[in-house]
Amino acid sequence: MAFDRLTYEKAEHAIKQRRFSADNRLAERMNEIGTKIPEINQIINTLSQTSIELSKLIIRKETDFSKNFNKIKEQNLHGQAMIKQLLVQNNYPENYLEPIYTCPDCRDKGYINGERCSCFNKLLTRFAVEKLNSEANMPECDFEHFSLDYYKGTSNPNCPDCHRKMTENLAFCKHYAQNFSLKSDSLFILGQTGIGKTHISLSIAKEVSEKGYTVAYGSLLNYLRIIEKEHFGRTTNSENDTLQILIDADLLILDDLGSEFQTNFYESTLYNIINTRINLGLPTIISSNLSAEELQRHYNERIISRLFSVFTTLMFFGDDIRQLKRLRNEF
Ligand SMILES: Nc1ncnc2c1ncn2[C@@H]1O[C@H](COP(=O)(O)OP(=O)(O)OP(=O)(O)O)[C@@H](O)[C@H]1O
Ligand SMILES: [Mg+2]
Ligand SMILES: [Zn+2]
Repeated sequence: MAFDRLTYEKAEHAIKQRRFSADNRLAERMNEIGTKIPEINQIINTLSQTSIELSKLIIRKETDFSKNFNKIKEQNLHGQAMIKQLLVQNNYPENYLEPIYTCPDCRDKGYINGERCSCFNKLLTRFAVEKLNSEANMPECDFEHFSLDYYKGTSNPNCPDCHRKMTENLAFCKHYAQNFSLKSDSLFILGQTGIGKTHISLSIAKEVSEKGYTVAYGSLLNYLRIIEKEHFGRTTNSENDTLQILIDADLLILDDLGSEFQTNFYESTLYNIINTRINLGLPTIISSNLSAEELQRHYNERIISRLFSVFTTLMFFGDDIRQLKRLRNEF
């Protein structure tokens, strides 16, 4: 999978920082223990002596290599056990002098046997998603700025009880964000224009990314344009693979389904994204201001049946808040 140079450098830098802080934390603990339990210092010195002997043995290829090797190994294990014992006797956890890596698999090196570790791939996706997200910045779209007042006494004949419905929707979305996991449901948010679908999706995005999940959010049309450009353009490996990034994100938010004009490429790409994420069991949130009938007319049955059967549908109601805000001079 391809990533651009900047994304790659950012991820490499982050891994280096992890290793650096693991080393630093260990050095601090060594210092602390060195003053508090000096016997441990002596053992550590002896142990480093034995490891020098060991490397000499390997270089010299002596005849009784294995006998000496086992002896040194035993001394080593004995030393380690003594350290643990002394730590516990002094009320420290026995692993206090073991390095604390963010990723124990690769010991924060980013590679295992020359292959990129999954922690490195995760960082690459995260930075690539951040770059994508920076284009969809709406700073005040969070739960704090989501007011239910706009849904009081609305003129919408389809929903005489908008306020109650939207109170339920808000509670559902807050609960969804707070309890998000990779096993969370997918959501399909439907409703007319200007009633808070994008606002609430971004509120979820914000809260879920604050928990450390990788959340890609943006307009579907924008994503499809980028993917199309990458697919048909004369691009090289040096560009991010946006399709793959959207498939890999912990949570993907596709805003404004239906705003794109229909092409075979767009439809098959959309199907590919939705279907692959369903197969991977990853949650996706899709919003649209088209009615169910319009959606059925616009999209292939394969897409529609998935959206209405696998996704949990949330119906939003209300008057156009863009207009309300304009009338109330809140813009
Ligand atoms: N409940 C709310 N409280 C405060 N502001 C809101 C609320 N809902 C929407 N807004 C604001 O109103 C504007 C329109 O809302 P939003 O973009 O979420 O509408 P939408 O339902 O996504 O519309 P469209 O279908 O046209 O995309 C935004 O500026 C948004 O921040
Ligand atoms: Mg919207
Ligand atoms: Zn790793």
